[in-house]
Amino acid sequence: MEYNIIRKKSVTSTNTLLKELARDVPHGTVLCADSQSRGRGRMGRSFYSPDKEGIYMSILLKEGFGNNPTLVTTLTAVSVMKAISNLTGKEPFVKWVNDIILDGKKVCGILTEGAFNGKELEYMIVGIGVNVGNSSFPDEIKDIAGSINCDKELLLEEIIRCFFEEYKNLSSGEYLDFYRKRCISLDRPIKIISPGKEPVEAFSQGIDDNANLIVKYPDGRVDTVFSGEVKTCL
Ligand code: BTN
Repeated sequence: MEYNIIRKKSVTSTNTLLKELARDVPHGTVLCADSQSRGRGRMGRSFYSPDKEGIYMSILLKEGFGNNPTLVTTLTAVSVMKAISNLTGKEPFVKWVNDIILDGKKVCGILTEGAFNGKELEYMIVGIGVNVGNSSFPDEIKDIAGSINCDKELLLEEIIRCFFEEYKNLSSGEYLDFYRKRCISLDRPIKIISPGKEPVEAFSQGIDDNANLIVKYPDGRVDTVFSGEVKTCL
């Protein structure tokens, strides 16, 4: 598909800036920057975005996304995993719902945001941050963050190509099988982390067709987890 790409040197956050531009640019617009001063992650966290040591990009979706943002996040995770494999020959994994793991470390995060007009989802912004060629990480993340060694520009192009290829088939849900196969949070004891709550222990049993996590608590109750994040207990 044809897409419009806007390149910036330094921005606060590509998601924030694309949101400001959203009404004036077409569906499929991609905004990418060399650095972000206020890169945002999920659950109110920041995203480390040093100059030229990562891909910081956001994609504007005005059509075709249905009514389930989690599926768009899942599809994006599949696209990023395929792009990384195509360029490096390695096999990335995903930690539910949006962390891409390579060689045991997080190399990419995805932040999907929706803009509502009343109850209707008007457009979505998919933010993708990938660590590429990083020389170091701050102490807080140095044990969990990893970086990909490859050509940043080629990876950016491949992510965009894979994303729009997958997006054509969003409603088919076929990518979910790929996602399930590569998900490291499945079939094991986990802790469910929700903002402002104590972590809850459970066993992850599956991922349903809406990309939600099906879990079983120690008392035998089965539940569906729609958001938050999980820690695997190995
Ligand atoms: C996470 O790991 O919690 C999600 C991180 C998402 C980071 C990307 S970088 C490009 C886009 N702009 C942002 O401010 N965040 C996303």
